[in-house]
Amino acid sequence: MPPRRLLLVLLPFLTVLCPLVPGRGEQRAAPGKIAVIGGGIGGTAAAYFLRQKFGRSVRIEVLERGEVGGRLATVEVEGESYEAGGSVLHPLNLHMKHFAKELGLPALPVPSNLMGIYNGEEFVFEESSWYIINVLKLLWHYGFSPLRMNMWVEDILDKFMRIYRYQTHDYTFSTYERLFHALGGNDFIQMFNQTIDEAMQKASFSQKFINEMVCPAMRVDYGQGVNINGFVGAVSLAGAGSGLWSVKGGNKLVCTGLIYASKADVIAGTVVSIEPKTRKRSTGDPVNLYHVTYDTPSGQTGDIYDIVVIAAPLNRKIANITFKNFSPPVPEFSNPYQQTVATFVHGRLNASFFGYRDPSAFHLGAIFTTENPKLFINSVGIVSPVENRGSEEKPPLQSAVWKIFSREVLTKEQLNLLFSSYDSVKVKKWLAYPHYSPPNEFPPIILHDNIYYLNGIEWAASAMEMSSIAAKNAALLAYHRWYGNTDKIDQEDLYEKLKTEL
Ligand SMILES: Cc1cc2nc3c(=O)[nH]c(=O)nc-3n(C[C@H](O)[C@H](O)[C@H](O)COP(=O)(O)OP(=O)(O)OC[C@H]3O[C@@H](n4cnc5c(N)ncnc54)[C@H](O)[C@@H]3O)c2cc1C
Ligand SMILES: *[C@@H]1O[C@H](CO)[C@@H](O)[C@H](O)[C@H]1NC(C)=O
Ligand SMILES: *[C@@H]1O[C@H](CO)[C@@H](O)[C@H](O)[C@H]1NC(C)=O
Ligand SMILES: *[C@@H]1O[C@H](CO)[C@@H](O)[C@H](O)[C@H]1NC(C)=O
Repeated sequence: MPPRRLLLVLLPFLTVLCPLVPGRGEQRAAPGKIAVIGGGIGGTAAAYFLRQKFGRSVRIEVLERGEVGGRLATVEVEGESYEAGGSVLHPLNLHMKHFAKELGLPALPVPSNLMGIYNGEEFVFEESSWYIINVLKLLWHYGFSPLRMNMWVEDILDKFMRIYRYQTHDYTFSTYERLFHALGGNDFIQMFNQTIDEAMQKASFSQKFINEMVCPAMRVDYGQGVNINGFVGAVSLAGAGSGLWSVKGGNKLVCTGLIYASKADVIAGTVVSIEPKTRKRSTGDPVNLYHVTYDTPSGQTGDIYDIVVIAAPLNRKIANITFKNFSPPVPEFSNPYQQTVATFVHGRLNASFFGYRDPSAFHLGAIFTTENPKLFINSVGIVSPVENRGSEEKPPLQSAVWKIFSREVLTKEQLNLLFSSYDSVKVKKWLAYPHYSPPNEFPPIILHDNIYYLNGIEWAASAMEMSSIAAKNAALLAYHRWYGNTDKIDQEDLYEKLKTEL
């Protein structure tokens, strides 16, 4: 056996023996208690990775004011549940894939419906059920742009995938600028400073293609047009690929599963403030701790923690948390979030509203839209329940459950225009994701010695996988900073280093 292999085999034993080796006794004691604020995918994944790193002895508490799952939630329509928030995962979302597998949650393919792009007057593109016709139509309308776009997105995705390698090797970053720079260098950073429109124009895509093919995808995924940053735009375009999936029973099951797997305690409460406290150890050394105050149905209470991980957007309208008596003060970030309304309607779509003279010829199951101030919806599409996906695709003219995304709550008049008949309506209003207007600066990850903030990553792109990546980064950062492993933090040229390492 080559020595290297031998070392790998022995490694687990060595780690077990280490606490017995003298000298390690000088190592700092493990933290006693960690608070994670927010029980969405970011917070629950953080609890999971924190447990992995810090081991069994630390207490982990997840403070959640609503339901575990956060922006992963389902609504019930006519006895079946549908994804109302984060719904679709990419086949290369490796953390989410790993969670589902580890937790024994089956993945279901997301059925694809025939798609049309409506500009407020007519359809500028309609998909056919014949693959070859689609290819020809795309070629006719946009030349090789669709093909080039796939290559453009793939190149970004390739670089993005480096994060998994870094994280597997325990490397972490103290700012999101550094993290993204380590993935794609200045080209990546540049993408946060320009719109997807600018980025694609520079890559010489035609304005027609950008307006008719790219913009509609941004409108479905982020409720905004091509003024969002280039990176989130590319993420959105990657989501137009094949192999998309979601978790059977609802994506939120990943969050409850991660809580269980991490053996964290969930505490029902709304965190209102965090305050630093210094205590003297028996040895006389000062210890820095945090007092977290939260509201519960039975009144205000609080507790003391060694480490605090904030996994909810710090925004007065979302996680309204006051940092008391910090010096220097924790800066406040002005970071608006975009309102998106998801409306579920069981009914028949009004094909004449979309310009069809002969409604029986209407065969689309998903309608995307271009930018047009007259339009009061971003998209409308048939959805299937979280329990049984992709069984039979209903012909759209029969009654089906449609999900509509819009900026504002739809009025009765608007619903009456969109549907020729309907019998039930469910509305879910979200402060959904950042309102992107590049150049965007990232909020810091480290807010204080042992306070970490995850959701700044949403300013690169808001997605389940992004929160999971931020969660692992923060858990590693908290761990390495606690034990002083500076060699694992903010390493430059990691890509080259890891290439030669194995
Ligand atoms: C309509 C919609 C569609 C989407 N579609 C997709 C998609 O298809 N694919 C995809 O990958 N992503 C999608 N996303 C984005 C994705 O859902 C989010 O990026 C992700 O769920 C964010 O997770 P999080 O844990 O970071 O935040 P959240 O899920 O928001 O979790 C934060 C949690 O903190 C809690 N909280 C807030 N303040 C406090 C407080 N003061 N005290 C205690 N608890 C507090 C909240 O109740 C919440 O549970 C979509 C989002 C929306 C809204
Ligand atoms: C991007 O914009 C930020 C803030 O405006 C600026 O500090 C940074 O230098 C810019 N980066 C690049 C690569 O252009
Ligand atoms: C945020 O909290 C502060 C202090 O608790 C309160 O005064 C303020 O009204 C809250 N803001 C919002 C938008 O709820
Ligand atoms: C359908 O759309 C057409 C065209 O906008 C509109 O005139 C009609 O009132 C709508 N409703 C029904 C039930 O057909």
